[in-house]
Amino acid sequence: MFFERHERGERAVLVHPECLDDQQREDPREFQELVRSANVEQVAFVVVANPKVSPRYFVGSGKLEEIRQQVIACDADVVLFNHALSPSQERNLEAELECRVVDRTGLILDIFAQRARTHEGKLQVELAQLDHVSTRLVRGWTHLERQKGGVGLRGPGETQLETDRRLLRARIKTIQKRLDKVRKQRDQTRRSRKRADIPLVSLVGYTNAGKSTLFNAITESGVYAADQLFATLDPTLRRLQIQDLGPIILADTVGFIRHLPHKLVQAFRATLEESAMADLLLHVIDCADAERQDNIQQVHNVLEEIEANELPTLEVFNKTDLLGMKPRIDRDENNKPVRVWISAQRNEGLDLLQLAIAELLGDDLVHEFIPVPHDKGRLRARLYKLGVVQSEDFNEEGLPVLELRMPRQELQKLMLQEGMDVPWELPDKEPWMNE
Ligand code: GTP
Repeated sequence: MFFERHERGERAVLVHPECLDDQQREDPREFQELVRSANVEQVAFVVVANPKVSPRYFVGSGKLEEIRQQVIACDADVVLFNHALSPSQERNLEAELECRVVDRTGLILDIFAQRARTHEGKLQVELAQLDHVSTRLVRGWTHLERQKGGVGLRGPGETQLETDRRLLRARIKTIQKRLDKVRKQRDQTRRSRKRADIPLVSLVGYTNAGKSTLFNAITESGVYAADQLFATLDPTLRRLQIQDLGPIILADTVGFIRHLPHKLVQAFRATLEESAMADLLLHVIDCADAERQDNIQQVHNVLEEIEANELPTLEVFNKTDLLGMKPRIDRDENNKPVRVWISAQRNEGLDLLQLAIAELLGDDLVHEFIPVPHDKGRLRARLYKLGVVQSEDFNEEGLPVLELRMPRQELQKLMLQEGMDVPWELPDKEPWMNE
């Protein structure tokens, strides 16, 4: 159907308007990055130096002709605009250029469609795409198809348009229903995670900062412990064993992009909400990017929008290899880690990152050796299920002694539930095994 993804290797003419006011201006390099991310090949780059925004075509007639010439000369499949176009501008341009036209929102949606990994994310992208398409579904794509002609490309008449509309409505309804179901499922997953009280660490950051590279590097570095529950439900969640800390859940998220249209922020709320629930955010930053400061600011803006700006955050300055720098940790006046410099691609500094995570999350964690009486087998089983048992030994009375790293409160709660005395005050962190 019409909301299918582009095939690989499409050839595109890029149109970049300059000299818009600061609020609207987009970065041409970022535009090219986005195009690359969408698996589209750039065959021409047209700069609109002084766009006198025309209500009909967005660009003036001279520019329109130049773009048309490029489309023909380069045999392009699509023209991409680095700006939002109204549905009618898009249609007029398509008619005039005899080529598909996609605006910035459409392009971003396409990238999201390729990147959305969770079932819910995919459904939400499709919903947003349908929404985007439905505003453009006025007399369908007849203008294009008539001009191109050919078998299988005959223009759909009004009847086809009616069918499209009906299908669109039905599809939206189905998706909304599925989303409801997925949301319920997700809540259950969250509840089980909350029950386990395993800290959630979310990777956030500007597009291209290296989040997925880092996610994979950590996954492959051996700290990843396959977890059936999360592995099957959501491929963007990993359960890891952090040294001196214990298990955490690491979540990858979709990259942020400046001028993200508000309705897209809504559409991605689920992915982003995952970040809003985190115990710690890892803000991944491309430290070699000339726009570094601005990108950081953009991410802060989005985090504010999803009310995640107050969460504890560790900055991860990635791509140190490009600056010829060695990995290191920057600390604040209280010796708390605020920034870690790493190269995800070269696997450099991942140990420092783990250390910083352990320090930041470890405040309320205990490292205890607990003898488990023979009649408390259920407690032992529950602790194993939580993945918090580091080792097991026997004491002189022949009781199994579990080495645990876990939140103190959680341990206390479990022990009380299983009818065991908790012989220490909450703030006390000394092991009590031999008492
Ligand atoms: P989005 O999915 O768009 O949000 O991007 P991302 O943040 O997940 O970035 P990704 O991991 O896809 O990396 C973007 C590009 O940066 C890729 O070409 C990576 O190979 C490259 N990259 C990632 N980490 C490093 C690094 O440490 N050094 C260098 N030189 N390149 C890196």
